[in-house]
Amino acid sequence: MMMNLSASRPTNFSKIPKNKLDLSMNTSNLAQVNAAAVGNGADSLEQDARLDQKSSFIVIAFILSGAAWLLLGSILGTIASFKMHMPDWLGEHAWLTFGRIRPLHLNWMAYGWASQVGVGVSLWILSRVLKTTIPVRPWLFVGLLVWNLCLLIGGIEILMGHSRGLEWLELPIYTIVPIVFVIVLAGEAAISMLYTRKQPHLYISAWYIIAALVSFPLLGIVSSLPIFEGTVQAGMNWWYAHNALGLWFTPMGLAIAYFLIPKVTGRPIYSYPLSVLGFWSLLLFYNWNGFHHLIGGPVPTWFVTISIAASVMMIIPVVTVAVNHHMTIIGSFEAVKYSPTLRFVVFAAMSYTFVSIQGSFQAIRTFNEIIHFTHYVVAHAHAGVYSFFTMMLFGAVYYIMPRVTNWEWHSPKLIKLHFWLSASGIIIYLVGLQWGGIIQGLEMNNPDIPFMTVVNNTKKWLLSRSFAAILLTAGHFVFAYNLFRLMHVRKVRPAPPVTWLDIQRQRALQPKPEPVPFSKKVANAFSGLNQSLKRWANDVKVDEH
Ligand code: HEM
Repeated sequence: MMMNLSASRPTNFSKIPKNKLDLSMNTSNLAQVNAAAVGNGADSLEQDARLDQKSSFIVIAFILSGAAWLLLGSILGTIASFKMHMPDWLGEHAWLTFGRIRPLHLNWMAYGWASQVGVGVSLWILSRVLKTTIPVRPWLFVGLLVWNLCLLIGGIEILMGHSRGLEWLELPIYTIVPIVFVIVLAGEAAISMLYTRKQPHLYISAWYIIAALVSFPLLGIVSSLPIFEGTVQAGMNWWYAHNALGLWFTPMGLAIAYFLIPKVTGRPIYSYPLSVLGFWSLLLFYNWNGFHHLIGGPVPTWFVTISIAASVMMIIPVVTVAVNHHMTIIGSFEAVKYSPTLRFVVFAAMSYTFVSIQGSFQAIRTFNEIIHFTHYVVAHAHAGVYSFFTMMLFGAVYYIMPRVTNWEWHSPKLIKLHFWLSASGIIIYLVGLQWGGIIQGLEMNNPDIPFMTVVNNTKKWLLSRSFAAILLTAGHFVFAYNLFRLMHVRKVRPAPPVTWLDIQRQRALQPKPEPVPFSKKVANAFSGLNQSLKRWANDVKVDEH
């Protein structure tokens, strides 16, 4: 294969100015490596470019629309956070009270930002791994408009106080059902891509994406049936809410990691059987997890115990995925310094392992007794939706956008700034609320401590979350600015930038020095020492004069 490096390009990796390094990790001149990594045919380069061109409009539409919801959701999240320690702030307007801002934040983030970008990225990945175009693109665009309209109308309803009162399902039913149908349409597009695919091998990312696009409509339709009441409704609520994370966001997030880690590092997935084991065990165990939210609730004990057992069994898919990702990236960790995509994706993949193992422990009754009804649980939720899924989406957007727009990100520094604002923000969020949540739980379980003392003691942790909220929101505005510049400063992509893989290839092409025998190394060392002594003796003489 031809190397596509210009003569002027530096060959020493350490000497490359960082701002000259690839932003999006364009691996265009390394099609073969990546082909092996994601199961593509050999001459996939032009084909990929053609596919990207066709999917361009719809993928960009989903990503930009999701990014707009991210900004709105961040403002709401920040207001909600401040209200936790300044309860009177904006309290005179009913529509700005905590009970309305919070669910709106949740719904716009989950169904606006995370779901829309998730669908756009998933369809793009499917198009790449199946080597086929995204079908029904005009319908998907109409669907996106309907989806946005529903989020807007549903948002106004929540602000007016017309929430359904079910967590994750606060939007009115007449706005949830159309959103579910748009995702059914995306699922239908995914399945027809399976039929028209030019790539016989089904790469693991495709499995995960199809699973997500089939699972969510099932969750949405079942939870919308008007047959649940009382405690059964609570059971359905947590079955839905937990699976929205586990069978909707999680498979999409893992699909992104399985696609991008090999793409950027140029190494195939460590073990295909492990990835299949991880996939089926996730599907088998996750579905039962949701009822651990009802530990101590008025539901049959066996019902909750099954869920606790399944939550602990989640260690199987989690460790499987962690080993597979770790073994794939091992030896290429240096790339994290240079690839924005990989930086976000590795952060997200590590968070997946952390949040999932944390979840298994939380489900155990003795630990749950402490953390239930505390701020710890909110931190755990953000470890999943932010540290894992949102960071994964950022990584995917930084990879995909230059390909579908054929323009490069304008500033590596701003991408770096976004990463550090998001990473530091979410770490402060998680550490503060988890530590504070455990203290809160222990104090609440102590009957000698008055409830108001416990509430006052949580204030400093809530303040730390508000500080994190400012960092996160600032990061999101930087991200939006990056997208805005990319879309507005329409420059033709410059010559392919230097990538991590280019450098590895160059290193490999450079002639290796002959191995020096040990005896010669010893002789060289002695002669070096001899010369140093002579130089030192000379210097002493000069000093004496
Ligand atoms: C700027 C970043 C964010 C901030 C400042 C923020 C802040 C908040 C606050 C203050 C709450 C209410 C917590 C409570 O009731 O005690 C909350 C809840 C929630 N947020 Fe966020 N959030 C952010 C990002 C996100 C994102 C990106 C998502 C989803 C993709 C998300 C999903 C949720 C969920 C699911 C809950 C409910 C958590 C629970 O009940 O355990 N948030 N968030």
